[in-house]
Amino acid sequence: MSRWAPSELSDSAEQLIRGRHATRAFRSEAVPEDTMRAIFSLAGAAPSNSNAQPWQVEVASGTTRERLAFALQAAHAANRTSVDFPYSEDMYSQVHRARRAAFGARLYGALGIGSDDHQARAAYDAESLRFYGAPHAAFLFVTGDGGARLAADVGAYTQTLLLAMAAYGVSSCPQGLLSFYADTVRAELGVTGGQLLVGVSFGYADESAPVNQVTTERAALEAVTTFHG
Ligand SMILES: Cc1cc2nc3c(=O)[nH]c(=O)nc-3n(C[C@H](O)[C@H](O)[C@H](O)COP(=O)(O)O)c2cc1C
Repeated sequence: MSRWAPSELSDSAEQLIRGRHATRAFRSEAVPEDTMRAIFSLAGAAPSNSNAQPWQVEVASGTTRERLAFALQAAHAANRTSVDFPYSEDMYSQVHRARRAAFGARLYGALGIGSDDHQARAAYDAESLRFYGAPHAAFLFVTGDGGARLAADVGAYTQTLLLAMAAYGVSSCPQGLLSFYADTVRAELGVTGGQLLVGVSFGYADESAPVNQVTTERAALEAVTTFHG
């Protein structure tokens, strides 16, 4: 007989974890500073190898955010990309490709962009460098040598941050695309060290935007998990 029974905590966890979604349209109102401090304090409870906490977080709001959005779009227009973590489509397996294609069809479908309309897709991606209209963007840097294990720790921090935001009613979109302009981010924010893993746009969701109704699926438990013994 199962010893598991739903509790208030497991119900809340289901609601929090399954209720978080990537948000791609935001209202302009800012997140209050005390809420922001509570969220980022909570995110700092993330686990890491030997508790090294190899993350450095830079949060852009107000005029800094405006300036950065402008600089990112200029860098994009000039094809001035700079990545700290190399990216290649080749890293994806066949099954990854199928999942990505299914996601792309839903996202661009909701936007009314056809699967072959590469120009419209590229224009949407370029526009996303304005943080999907979010009033804030957090940039998550990996400190130390930026190796895979340290980057994985910052991945754990990323999800903890997204859940902390969700718990405080703040919506978010992790944006790997922002990490393609690492030098621009560093220059605009005056950051000298670390490797940029991901940016996270955040604020309050525009619930009326169709793009925020996009749902994503997950692989079946058995497809990704094996219980031994
Ligand atoms: C590391 C990382 C990078 C991502 N990069 C982008 C991005 O550049 N642009 C974007 O719109 N969404 C991006 N996403 C959001 C994913 O598309 C989204 O998490 C995924 O499709 C699952 O959907 P859900 O978050 O709504 O559950 C990223 C997510 C992660 C974790």
